[in-house]
Amino acid sequence: MELFLLQYRQCASAIQDAGRPETDIPAGAGRVPGWSALQAPGGHTIPSMKTPSDTDDDLFWMRRALALAQTVMYTTAPNPRVGCVIVRDGRVLGEGATQPPGGPHAEIRALRDAQSRGQPVDGATMYVTLEPCSHFGRTPPCVEAVLAARPARVVVAMGDPNPLVNGQGLARLRGAGIQVTTGICREEALAVNAGFISRMSRGLPWVWMKMAASLDGRSALHNGMSQWITGPEARADGHRWRARSCVVLTGMGTVLKDDPQLNVRGIDTPRQPRKAVVDGHFQIPEDARLFDGAEVILFTARDDAAKAERLAARNARVVCLPGAEPGRVDLPAMMRWMAQEQFNEVHVEAGAGLSGALVSAGCVDELLLYLAPVLLGDAAGMVRLPMLEHLDAARRYEFIEAGRAGADLCVRARVASTWQQMMQRVALT
Ligand SMILES: NC(=O)c1ccc[n+]([C@@H]2O[C@H](COP(=O)([O-])OP(=O)(O)OC[C@H]3O[C@@H](n4cnc5c(N)ncnc54)[C@H](OP(=O)(O)O)[C@@H]3O)[C@@H](O)[C@H]2O)c1
Ligand SMILES: [Zn+2]
Repeated sequence: MELFLLQYRQCASAIQDAGRPETDIPAGAGRVPGWSALQAPGGHTIPSMKTPSDTDDDLFWMRRALALAQTVMYTTAPNPRVGCVIVRDGRVLGEGATQPPGGPHAEIRALRDAQSRGQPVDGATMYVTLEPCSHFGRTPPCVEAVLAARPARVVVAMGDPNPLVNGQGLARLRGAGIQVTTGICREEALAVNAGFISRMSRGLPWVWMKMAASLDGRSALHNGMSQWITGPEARADGHRWRARSCVVLTGMGTVLKDDPQLNVRGIDTPRQPRKAVVDGHFQIPEDARLFDGAEVILFTARDDAAKAERLAARNARVVCLPGAEPGRVDLPAMMRWMAQEQFNEVHVEAGAGLSGALVSAGCVDELLLYLAPVLLGDAAGMVRLPMLEHLDAARRYEFIEAGRAGADLCVRARVASTWQQMMQRVALT
């Protein structure tokens, strides 16, 4: 989105203007959704949460750490995307971002980078976009490596609500006499890792609903035609969001009408998200195009062991989660199941039927709408929702971004209360 790119360029040129480090963040880094949460509609930058000890330097270096985190948007799941910069006297000693699962976290990458440059980091300042981990996971705790390196100060954007960390990382640092500053760029850091924080703090993935529509809010013609309402730039941007997610989810109406592939195309990514379909009656055609060898998760409300076995040969995993009505999947249970599977972010790309059902069930956190400058008249809306008698009963969202994607508009909005709860959950003292 252009607003987002504009903001990134400003950030990149600020790094150059300051005559500070040679930037080795690849060109185009950060050209992924998430950072854009810094932008309010109209292109104004939302001021960062400042604490009394916050200085311009802290903001500058934390933004660099965030830009590093954004170079690994597609590759760290189920782990968070984290960036780290170690600085002394306005100079980078080392920096890095989290590697794919099992690989080193950002702090370790930055420490090794400093070591390879022959730069001792004792007495330096370390900027990290998430509280350093204090537990053994696939890798040893980062906090031990940080303590051993003896920086004088560690600046952390947000806390890690993972029960295995949850303030203990910072307590260890403080206990060792390291000065700790928190909360710099907290909102931006949360935007980069909304899915991980959502999973850790509420046992649910962060779910966005992507929809391409006309200016009068129509998503498909009466005969099912919807390809293509928006232009190539909007579609490419949509694929960046798919690439970022852990799961791309659709409904049976879309499978039957469009036979989608449901994969990421045209984006340079080593990892494909899972594919998933809500198929209450378990009626998916066994020759659907999405069965291309990659894993497909089918959420159903009907047991059919023979069909499930045949589809297993096509790498389909059938998950039966019956809802209150026959043929209906329990959608909130489906989201909890996905969080248990360590899926951080869910990209919904369905028709008005499933999209409406997910919104009604309170399963959608964010709307990602691409609006084409066309009017389609009497056609399917974006979400099929029950009729209201009062405006008070309307579902309300807050706009977080508006920009252009080629000839189309891109508008993002989210459930304000959920976001605020997560902001509080990552606040540190
Ligand atoms: N413009 C866009 O961005 C976009 C994106 C994707 C698709 N589309 C278009 O949307 C159209 C398809 O729309 P659609 O509404 O038919 O498709 P859909 O939303 O993909 O799927 C609808 C199906 O989901 C079912 N469903 C809803 N809640 C459910 C639950 N809790 N458990 C199980 N099943 C549930 C519905 O069942 P019931 O019938 O029982 O309610 C319905 O059969 C196509 O024309 C496609 O091209 C447009
Ligand atoms: Zn770590």
